[in-house]
Amino acid sequence: MKLDETMYKHVLAAYKNAYTPYSKFNVGAVLKLKNGEYITGSNIENASYGLSNCAERSALFRAYSKGIRKDDIEAIMVVGNTEGPISPCGACRQVMSELMDLDSKVFLTNLNKDIKEYTVRELLPYSFSEGDLKHE
Ligand code: THU
Repeated sequence: MKLDETMYKHVLAAYKNAYTPYSKFNVGAVLKLKNGEYITGSNIENASYGLSNCAERSALFRAYSKGIRKDDIEAIMVVGNTEGPISPCGACRQVMSELMDLDSKVFLTNLNKDIKEYTVRELLPYSFSEGDLKHE
């Protein structure tokens, strides 16, 4: 499949803005909104390693902080310096499953522009969600 060059330009900018003094492993993410806007996120690490935040969650939390909601989001793209397209971590898959539509597209890529396309649902089948909390 053909990579969206505009999304790639934004995701690469986010990749370059990552704060990774510990892992030195930069990740960039970008949300493409239905109104044509792009919201980027980068991984931001901390000397207390467990407090680090992944790029995907940075982008989604940034979007939600601006009042953007799942219906406004068309797709997400993620880039890392991996051999093949980067694989989002389990925590980010869970957050995507709540904050994005399950049928939204997830484009995974790398610095060679290798690309894989999934939906949120495909990346986290049988996800835990709000409905599971309501069972009596
Ligand atoms: N990381 C992300 O930002 N997204 C992913 O999907 C995988 C991992 C970050 C977390 C940490 O800052 C670095 O990559 C190495 O694990």
